[in-house]
Amino acid sequence: MPSGRKIAAGYIPPMSSAVIVSNRGAARWVRGHPWIFASDIIRGATDPGIVPVTDDRGKPLGQALWSPQSEIRLRLLERDPSRTIDTAWWRARIAAALARRPAIDATAFRIVHGESDGLPSLIVDRYDQWVVAQLLSAGLERYRADVIEALESLLEPAGILLRHDAAVRRREGLPQEVVVAAGAIPDEIEIREGAVRYLVQPRTGQKTGAFLDQRENRLACAALMRPGGRGLDCFSYHGSFALHLAARAGTVLAIDASAEAIARGARNAELNGFGNIAWRQADAFEALRELGRAKETFDLVVVDPPAFAKSRAALPGAINGYRDVNLHAMRLVSPGGLLVSASCSFHLRWPDFLAMLGSAAADSGRRVTVVSHLTQPIDHPEVLSIPESGYLKGAVLRVD
Ligand SMILES: C[S@@+](CC[C@H](N)C(=O)[O-])C[C@H]1O[C@@H](n2cnc3c(N)ncnc32)[C@H](O)[C@@H]1O
Repeated sequence: MPSGRKIAAGYIPPMSSAVIVSNRGAARWVRGHPWIFASDIIRGATDPGIVPVTDDRGKPLGQALWSPQSEIRLRLLERDPSRTIDTAWWRARIAAALARRPAIDATAFRIVHGESDGLPSLIVDRYDQWVVAQLLSAGLERYRADVIEALESLLEPAGILLRHDAAVRRREGLPQEVVVAAGAIPDEIEIREGAVRYLVQPRTGQKTGAFLDQRENRLACAALMRPGGRGLDCFSYHGSFALHLAARAGTVLAIDASAEAIARGARNAELNGFGNIAWRQADAFEALRELGRAKETFDLVVVDPPAFAKSRAALPGAINGYRDVNLHAMRLVSPGGLLVSASCSFHLRWPDFLAMLGSAAADSGRRVTVVSHLTQPIDHPEVLSIPESGYLKGAVLRVD
C-alpha cells in the first residue's frame, strides 16, 4: 500500500505484482465496462502487459491489460484471477466472437470488435481469405505473437496484415506501422457483399480497407432505390452505397473527396458491369450546393460523412457540419423521395443526431418523416454497458 493510505480492517495483502484500483474503478467492472482510467489507479505497474488486479482490500478482481502511458490504464480481459491467458485462451475468445456472427452474406466482415467481444483494443476483420488486424493498446501489443498464432490456427488465413497506422496507437506510445504478420497479403482483394463485388486495398484503404460497419445499411438501401430512378451517394468512398443503388437505379452520382477512392470506385463499377454510375471527386459541402443551384433532384440521396466530432469539445462545430450537409441533401430529394443519413461520431449521440436532422428539416422547408433508424450490424456489436461500442447511427427519411 502507498504510505498515507488508511488500511481497512480485514485488509488482505494483495498479490505482490497486482495493480490496485479504487472502489470507483472496481465499480466500473462490476457494471460491465472494461476500462479503468489513470485517476482510479492506486498502485500501478511499470511494464505494459497482463496484470492481476485487486481492490484496495486485496480482493482479486481479475486480469487486465496494463497500458502505462494511456489514460485508459486497464482493460479487463478475464474475471477469473487464476485462468492462464495463453494462445488457447486467445483462440477460445476469438472463436466465441466468430460464433456470434452467423450467416453474414458477405466475404468481408468483422470477426472481433474489441471491447464488445471481450477482447479490448483488438480489431480483427476478415477480407475473403485474408485477415487485417489492429492491436491498439500497449498492453495488448505484448501478446502480438499469441494473438497471431490464435488467428492462424483458428482461421487458417492466407495472410495476416497488421494495420498499425491507426492514430489511437500514438496515445499508447506505440509505433505507426503496416506490417505483414503471417503469410502474404496482396495489394488488392476482391470481396463480395450481397450481390455486389468490391476491390479493397488492405494496406492503404481507409480503416482496415473498407467501411464494413455499413454493410447491412447498404443492403437495405439497395431495396429502397426506385427502379429506374436517380441516386446520389455523397461521401461514397469507393462507391460502397452507389454500387448497391446502381443495380436498380437508372443513374447514380457518387461523390467523394478522395481521388484514390473515386478511382477504385470506377473500377468497382466495371467489376460489377455497371455503366450507370458517374464519379466525381469533390468536396461534398460544395458539390451539394452546386447540385442545388443546378436544380438537380434525386429519388434517393445517401450522406455518410466522416466522423466530424472526434472529441466532445468538437461537437458543436460537428453538429453545424452535419446540419449543413443534411440541409443541402434534403433540398435535392425529389418530392416523396428518400434521404439516408448517417453519422459515425460516437460523441454525436442519438438525441443530438435526431435534433440535428430536425433542425435541418425545419430549415429545408420540406416535410421530413422518419421511415426507419439504422444502426450497427451484428459483427460490430453495441454492448449497452459499453457506450463507446455504439457509434454508428442513421436514419431513412422520406422528404415530401
Ligand atoms: C464514413 S466514410 C464513407 C463510407 C462509405 N459511405 C461506405 O459505406 O463505405 C466518409 C468518406 O468521406 C470522404 N470525405 C471526407 N471529407 C470529405 C469531403 N469534405 N467531401 C467529400 N468527401 C469527403 C472520405 O474520403 C470517406 O470516403
